[in-house]
Amino acid sequence: MQFQFPLQKALQTNQNGINVISASNSRRNCYLDEVIDRMGEASAIAQQLKQIITTASKFYGSDQRIYLKADGKDCLGLLKVGKKNLFYRDYSGSIKELQPLCVLDFYVHESVQRMGVGKELFEEMLKSEQIKPEKLAYDRPSQKLIGFLNKHYNLNQYVPQNNNFVIFNQYFGQGTQPIVQGRSQKYSRNSQIDQLDIMVQQISQNKMNQQQQPQQKLGYQMSPPWAIDNNTNIYNNINTQRTNVYKIN
Ligand code: ACO
Repeated sequence: MQFQFPLQKALQTNQNGINVISASNSRRNCYLDEVIDRMGEASAIAQQLKQIITTASKFYGSDQRIYLKADGKDCLGLLKVGKKNLFYRDYSGSIKELQPLCVLDFYVHESVQRMGVGKELFEEMLKSEQIKPEKLAYDRPSQKLIGFLNKHYNLNQYVPQNNNFVIFNQYFGQGTQPIVQGRSQKYSRNSQIDQLDIMVQQISQNKMNQQQQPQQKLGYQMSPPWAIDNNTNIYNNINTQRTNVYKIN
């Protein structure tokens, strides 16, 4: 994506043309705001999202980091990470509360996709965050990102969650887990899983009630959270999926 100004004006890139911007430490400037806003918008269009996930104003109110790859006046890619509080249900139905670092937005400009830019950005992020790909959670990964993770990092098995975050089985130190097979097994599990959903909603609601008591006195109504954004309090409700283990071929 081309800008009217050399991106060095906005970014301090390393020898690979990659710059990391920390919302809490970096100085905000109008050039950088434009780069973040336009790349965020392009990412939302590429993922066919109804809302833009990444804007400069949202970013600077968070504790997230953005990695940008630049080349002269072109911005080639954006990768945003940040921590989230998530409830995770494993294949056996047990529920865990986790605070993983998450890949929240990832976009490479259409003109340079499938040319290694995504891998370069991702590797830079792994190095800087000192983390392995399996120790990250992925927010509603697109098919392209699923393919990317499978190809480069052999990540391909996970239990789908109601909150649409993907945490691969390797996160828990497991290469593979038994794959639930056959209709009867799947269907017999559903009522137990519905009960678990209700339990999780109740646990979450109790937790919220404790945290939100002063606001409730003022008449606020909160819906039960599944995933809690540490900074912006975005809540994703439980509603759709059943537990199953997915294997991508
Ligand atoms: N179709 C299927 N797989 C793809 C595609 C595609 N159009 N593009 C990339 N991939 C996967 C494939 O595994 C590909 O390997 P292959 O070409 O041998 O099949 C591999 O990624 C290529 O690796 P890179 O070149 O390093 O990746 P790239 O620079 O294309 O970046 C990215 C990957 C970020 C997913 C990019 O394709 C993109 O921006 N896509 C559109 C936006 C998007 O879907 N972003 C992820 C949203 S989910 C989230 O942000 C949490």
